[in-house]
Amino acid sequence: MEKVKTVFFCQNCGVQAAKWLGKCPSCGEWNTYQEEIIEKATSAGPGWKPEKSPSKVANKFSSIADISSENETRIITPDNEFNRVLGGGIVPGSLVLIGGEPGIGKSTLLLQLALSMENMNVYYVSGEESSSQIKMRADRIKYKNDSCFLLNETSTQNIFTQLQISSKNGSETGNGNLSVGMVIIDSIQSLYSNKIDSPAGTVSQIKQCTAELQQFAKETGVPVFLIGHITKEGSIAGPKVLEHIVDTVLQFEGDQHYVYRILRTIKNRFGSTAELGIYEMRSDGLRQVTNPSEILLSQRDKELSGMCIASTLEGLRPMMIETQALVSHAVYGTPQRTATGFDLRRLSMLLAVLEKRCGFKFATKDVFLNIAGGIRVEDPAIDLGVVGALISSLEDIAISSKICFAGEVGLSGEIRAVSRIEQRIAEADKLGFETIFISKFNQKSISKNNYKINISMISKVDEVVTLLFK
Ligand code: TYD
Ligand code: MG
Repeated sequence: MEKVKTVFFCQNCGVQAAKWLGKCPSCGEWNTYQEEIIEKATSAGPGWKPEKSPSKVANKFSSIADISSENETRIITPDNEFNRVLGGGIVPGSLVLIGGEPGIGKSTLLLQLALSMENMNVYYVSGEESSSQIKMRADRIKYKNDSCFLLNETSTQNIFTQLQISSKNGSETGNGNLSVGMVIIDSIQSLYSNKIDSPAGTVSQIKQCTAELQQFAKETGVPVFLIGHITKEGSIAGPKVLEHIVDTVLQFEGDQHYVYRILRTIKNRFGSTAELGIYEMRSDGLRQVTNPSEILLSQRDKELSGMCIASTLEGLRPMMIETQALVSHAVYGTPQRTATGFDLRRLSMLLAVLEKRCGFKFATKDVFLNIAGGIRVEDPAIDLGVVGALISSLEDIAISSKICFAGEVGLSGEIRAVSRIEQRIAEADKLGFETIFISKFNQKSISKNNYKINISMISKVDEVVTLLFK
């Protein structure tokens, strides 16, 4: 009797081990190892063995100059944000993984894409929801499309059979020449392949199913979209172990309590990873947000203290965000520091700089910092805006809403240069700001005459204080 080969996988990070382990040496999680049956080892032997007669080898080396580069034809979707995130449209035969927390709107995004593609048959395979549930969602989105087909299936073999049948039917009824235009799988964790014995959702099943789908995509030239869930910690084995197999990894993120969603590129074989799309979740589906600054800046009638506008980059796109600070006398012995949408340690650092370099007393104050709009900002260029909001709240002096900031604050209170300053200034100019404060060290990379906006260059935090609060 042949022995079945089993291996233990960490269900958290996907690391493989020959025997069960209590603690994963790779990610440090406890009790995550699970035994999974993998395919019987074929008798192919080792991967690399010097051949006696190399002529038998099918693939040989060819000079890169002799290889003809294919003319890249991209499928342009009606959703501009989506096109941009993919690097200019969908590449035929590509395998795209869209990861995100449950409930963030992955199914909605792809269903909307499926329904908006005209002149193309889109096959939406769902292993999670019934067809009538999907239909209800489609009604909610209010898109109508006769060339979107639904299938409830979890076995990859059945999915391929059904796709083949549909493509035959499609060509008979004359539904375009390539009858399968695009395949959407919701979700990869619900699929199973009968080539492997493990249950659906385990590391080996996810890998196998993805490999089969990749083969399908490459052989037929049909783009395949996979939906993958990730947990709050950001990594269930599933999508993480797939990142190297698929061509493109997109992450759909946002806070469930806020309406804005961000589609970010994590990996892209066909474009830049710095791109990002912004959507707004409405009651009738997702809407593209083409001018994020206008939404993120709250309308105010009166100038209030503790508010300051900073320039940030999301992907390659500059946008203005509002930082809000509240500094109040600490009620309890240990003052509280809370930050929403901003790194708490960075806030502590900025407070320490203000205390030590500018003599502001924050030690006995509670400090609350909030980035408006529920977005999270990693860009250090908003430091200066945060500093402005903090001082404004402490001193109770409002900063004009016509002023904005772009600069990183260093430990000695110096204002450091930030990337893509020209774009930030142009955005501020476009939105009608009167003054932008930037680092003196950005001076070289800008030509002042191009803008109406007044550019104020500073090198130290104290200078901001003198200019605005004295
Ligand atoms: P869904 O696409 O099911 O999320 P995922 O596939 O990532 O798990 O979307 C879930 C949320 O989106 C749900 O809480 C309801 C909300 N939603 C809207 O607000 N408006 C809509 O038009 C739709 C379809 C969903
Ligand atoms: Mg879903």
